[in-house]
Amino acid sequence: MWHSIVTARNLEIDLDHANISQMLRQYNDGQASATSLHHVVPAFLAHINHEEKIIERMGSVFPDNHKREHQRLSILLRSYEVDWQQGKRNGCQFTAAVQKTLKLHVIDFDVKLIERFNCVY
Ligand SMILES: [Fe+2]
Ligand SMILES: [Fe+2]
Repeated sequence: MWHSIVTARNLEIDLDHANISQMLRQYNDGQASATSLHHVVPAFLAHINHEEKIIERMGSVFPDNHKREHQRLSILLRSYEVDWQQGKRNGCQFTAAVQKTLKLHVIDFDVKLIERFNCVY
């Protein structure tokens, strides 16, 4: 799984990423119903908020460029959800778009978050 290789080096952040990825995979594997997909975007948005709080709790200001990217992602994720609800994307296309967005964001932004700190788990 990509999330076990690409780590943000913070247990809470990595667990959030793994949980969202797991929700998407369970649907694709036929282990979860389409109804469960309604939880995907709220879980992603909750994670974004959680991630910013974790860094602030560590005594650091959350980087502006990363915060702006979170705002862009929030809009993008809602558009994926609307497309799915309106039938412009099926469930698999919706989960694939969310999975790709999550993975690229972690690689491009989240892996750099903890580099500024000495303490890692
Ligand atoms: Fe992030
Ligand atoms: Fe993240």
